[in-house]
Amino acid sequence: MKHRFLSILLVIVVLLGFLPLGAGAAPDLGLPGLAGIYRDYFMIGGCFGADKIAGERGQLFFHHYNAMTAENAMKPASLYNAGRELDFSAIDGLLAGVAGYGNTLHGHTLVWHEQTPAWMTQNKDGSPLAREEAQRNMAAHIGAVAGHFAGQVYSWDVLNEAMEDLIVDRSDWRVALRKTAWYNAFANGGPGEGGDGHIDFAFRQARAADPGAILYYNDYGLDKPRKARAVATMAAELNGAWLAEGNARPLIEGIGMQGHYSLSTSAADVEKSIQLFAELGVRVSISELDINAKPGGPDEMLKQAVKYAELFVVFMRHSDVVERVSFWGLDDGTSWLNLPQFGGPGAEPLLFDAGLNAKQAYYAAADPEGFLQAHGAAPPRQTWLGCLLRPFRFLYENDDLYGGDIFKYSRAAAVWLAKGLASSNKYARCGYSLLYYLLWPGARAVHWARGILGK
Ligand code: G3I
Repeated sequence: MKHRFLSILLVIVVLLGFLPLGAGAAPDLGLPGLAGIYRDYFMIGGCFGADKIAGERGQLFFHHYNAMTAENAMKPASLYNAGRELDFSAIDGLLAGVAGYGNTLHGHTLVWHEQTPAWMTQNKDGSPLAREEAQRNMAAHIGAVAGHFAGQVYSWDVLNEAMEDLIVDRSDWRVALRKTAWYNAFANGGPGEGGDGHIDFAFRQARAADPGAILYYNDYGLDKPRKARAVATMAAELNGAWLAEGNARPLIEGIGMQGHYSLSTSAADVEKSIQLFAELGVRVSISELDINAKPGGPDEMLKQAVKYAELFVVFMRHSDVVERVSFWGLDDGTSWLNLPQFGGPGAEPLLFDAGLNAKQAYYAAADPEGFLQAHGAAPPRQTWLGCLLRPFRFLYENDDLYGGDIFKYSRAAAVWLAKGLASSNKYARCGYSLLYYLLWPGARAVHWARGILGK
């Protein structure tokens, strides 16, 4: 009898072990809510879908966040049915369910090259639509969607991720643009009509559809100086033209730094980019914050917490321009990083674990200065590969020593390109640049001399 009882107990214990961690977990709502802590600094937000705002997760979500971004439900692909008609029922239903919380709604995203029906930009055979048709589709989409949410949405990501990661030619932001399906369709027009035209067009449509909304350009990797510079130059140029037409407010009013960071992200780099955007007179949001630490036990989680603390110190220091810090999720159990295509499962990037318990990262975000005093700043992360690549990264990021420009200015480059010996492919060009730099140290001197002489 005793054995039977013990066996049943064991089975119950084992079964409990297999239950999903979040099930039945009671979130600790006694902890100070982050939105309240940062009320005088910036909004604190999170991305949501049905999985993130139901039950206990919902309680925790609205305890800590006063801003919300739909993780997927407002993207173009989520809004059209098979008949190419807009259907807002899913997102409207989600929003109606949480209307009582009064969270500020940030729209994500009107234009993107992912999660967008192919018919908007391409013919059936995959070739780009003619510019005129793509323009019609974009105008109709932005007009209807931004129009539908006008008055409900505080700000919009008008355009998401239009910039390349590896920017070889820094002389013109246009060259740094991704050749997306939108880009290619807009490039498929008359003489002088380039793919870059989709950016200005998208922002102008959004401004017309919802004059009250604050319009954002959103991208990842903006802690990288070269990419940040390209975005800043683009915003400055488009805003300059728009203001010269007599408009009172900038066209691109905010830059969303997504903030999908890792333990090797430098808070100092993040700060430099915030300052760069602030100089443009636009506001900044940290729009999709998470820190992807490899599950590796308490040590990694402490390093992650320290990184969160360092970042929040920076965000607070620039709270005059940072208007929102939004996490890309709430708890580790429902982070996008658990999807197999993004390296999951087992991701641990957020402030709460899959059982909704506050991690050290929560305490770090809630009191960053106190946390750093107790635990110290993170020592720079060293890996063998990182050490090996450091000089090259320095070359790439540093404007004055950049191999790409040396290559561009060199006679050899012109000859190689003309003979078809050098590919204009960005990776190949970067490789040639590096080779060129290593093989001919004198190139640096020539490059500097040209800079000094203004040639
Ligand atoms: O809904 C299906 C489900 O039925 C199916 O079983 C499952 C199988 O993988 O897929 C589910 O759809 C996935 C969807 O997320 C919902 O979980 C898609 O495959 C997956 O591609 C989609 O990923 C989204 C990703 O954007 C698309 O690139 C992530 O949820 C979303 O968090 C992520 O968000 C982006 C931002 O919009 C822009 N910045 C980067 C950020 C992270 O990638």
